[in-house]
Amino acid sequence: MTEADCSHPSEVDPAGVPFAELAPARLRAERTSLKWTRFPADVLPLFVAEMDFALAPEIRDALIGRIAASDTGYLDGPGPLAPAFAGFASRAWGWEIPHSRVFLATDVATGVVESLRVEGELRRRQEAAGGPAPSGRIVVPTPVYPGFFEMLEELPYEIVEVPLAAAPGDSGLRLDLSAIERAFVAGADAFLLCNPHNPHGLVHREEELAELARLAAEHSVWVVSDEIHAPLTHAGETFTPFAPLAAAAGALAVTTTSASKGWNLAGAKCSVIVAADERSEEALRLLPPETVTRASILGLHAGVAAFTAGEAWLGRAIAQIEANQALLAELVAERLPGVRLTPARAGYLAWLDFRGAGLGDDPYRRILDDARVALNDGAFFGAGGAGHVRLNLACAPDTIREAVTRIAAILPRHAAAEQEGRA
Ligand SMILES: Cc1ncc(COP(=O)(O)O)c(C=O)c1O
Repeated sequence: MTEADCSHPSEVDPAGVPFAELAPARLRAERTSLKWTRFPADVLPLFVAEMDFALAPEIRDALIGRIAASDTGYLDGPGPLAPAFAGFASRAWGWEIPHSRVFLATDVATGVVESLRVEGELRRRQEAAGGPAPSGRIVVPTPVYPGFFEMLEELPYEIVEVPLAAAPGDSGLRLDLSAIERAFVAGADAFLLCNPHNPHGLVHREEELAELARLAAEHSVWVVSDEIHAPLTHAGETFTPFAPLAAAAGALAVTTTSASKGWNLAGAKCSVIVAADERSEEALRLLPPETVTRASILGLHAGVAAFTAGEAWLGRAIAQIEANQALLAELVAERLPGVRLTPARAGYLAWLDFRGAGLGDDPYRRILDDARVALNDGAFFGAGGAGHVRLNLACAPDTIREAVTRIAAILPRHAAAEQEGRA
């Protein structure tokens, strides 16, 4: 057998493309997304949440098919995406969704903003009918995906940040349900749940989500559960959709999600908003009709292909992400003293605590300027994020090795060891 014949599964990406073809220099020449255009060529980009892996062939073929048919007009509703997503949700999580509860939006960010506008409209109507005045507050657990703060700039809420906290006897961070309850008692209209939670890759436990649903029902808080990372839940972990728990508790809730993280379709622009029950469905009928026509027909068909035929690719992607995370953990332990990795249980984002690494108050900036690696700056993730960075694991393993080599070279202890070696 020649060397070329021994292609080991770990030498190819989930679509079977050799990792050599995912070398950053090649991707930079081929791709036009912000991952490859924002920074100069000498910067290794491991920031924004998009994958380097090649598209699932089933999705590529679906997109080519629609283009060959010149099927590039407007959408009039979720059509085949409702049964496709409902089928996936049933197989993956045992969540049964009546198709009438599935609404369309351009992307998950739009789904979050538009469903919260509906919440505001409901409160105004209640007040006009003699009900209580809205508090104007939304509760958000932090540190969290910075896009949430950008989305909330479009809405009139005051944001109440509730940091994740370590439960007694448990070193890992979790939703702080007591603090959330206090925030609800103080007055809150809405809660923005990240399920699973970006950036820690935290998979919330069913009992925590059930308690959140109970609190939301008790205090009449509208919950938006952003479940975009759910398809990427790692092996051995159990993802719990929030909607069935909300329905059981009698809380008004919607789920915003899409195939865009699981199958790398951010540019395809199509997401779903799923009502948890009949009352939430009734509320979502207040969505403006343009929410549908602003979604992309190409994105819709890409999503249908992902949810109906993309599970094998997804399984391989998760396995590669887990292998990359294990590689990163090993490299951090060996070469990045003082750095702590929070092991993600879902998604492909690694949350790294650099506060003990000796890079000062702004490790993101030092790593960008001196190591030439672009990560996400934890300072933008809300309370508790400063001193941390987020690193994207959905790439070739060599890209991770290169990032760690570059970062190790700027750590003060590394510099000190080198000097000792030379002396
Ligand atoms: C939790 C979360 N929600 C939403 C988004 C953005 O999704 P979209 O591009 O569909 O708006 C991201 C992107 O990384 C995310 O991590």
